[in-house]
Amino acid sequence: MHIVAILGSARKNGTSARIARAFTETAVTYGAAVTEYPLNTMQYRGCQGCEGCHTRSDRCVLRDDLTPLLDQLYRADVVVFAAPVYFGDTCGQFKCCYDRLWSLMDVQVGQGPGESRLPPGKTAVLILSHVAPAGTHSDVVDRYTEGLELYGFTVQSLTAPGLRIEPNTDIDPHLARAAALARELMRAG
Ligand SMILES: Cc1cc2nc3c(=O)[nH]c(=O)nc-3n(C[C@H](O)[C@H](O)[C@H](O)COP(=O)(O)O)c2cc1C
Repeated sequence: MHIVAILGSARKNGTSARIARAFTETAVTYGAAVTEYPLNTMQYRGCQGCEGCHTRSDRCVLRDDLTPLLDQLYRADVVVFAAPVYFGDTCGQFKCCYDRLWSLMDVQVGQGPGESRLPPGKTAVLILSHVAPAGTHSDVVDRYTEGLELYGFTVQSLTAPGLRIEPNTDIDPHLARAAALARELMRAG
């Protein structure tokens, strides 16, 4: 089982990263291999909207630190998408990476989205953390779930709402949920 973990927050040990690691570290005990991408340490640009991935190539034509990440998504069994909510969406580092997933979609220019280029059978674990009470940002969860489903992922979401702003705030129940999800997926896989 190969897991790619995309960590969107600049806070290396913030809430979304810790929940993601509770998932991946549990999965490792079941024999999973994990490749972690802490986006804030990487150099990359957002999608240029050039449609090069649908006209000149079947991959994103930008060459930067997201290139190996996007390549690995073709081989990954599980992809962890972890980010804090900033101003009612994911944080910018995550969103710029997420937009680049457009190259994973087979699009006939002028006809809109077609089929995902990814092999089927992949699971996405969507982890979103925020301070507002539960339900406040359910639109964010819904939008990213629907988006990831377009790429063919089966989406499992772990939302951590109502948190204190400090990165080291107590999130034990969320860590436990993430570990439980990892056990469930690894036993099933
Ligand atoms: C610039 C900025 C914008 C934020 N916007 C929101 C928001 O719209 N809604 C919310 O509930 N929390 C918001 N927060 C709080 C973060 O979502 C929250 O602290 C989150 O748990 C941080 O995750 P992290 O520790 O993984 O970075 C914001 C924080 C920052 C720094």
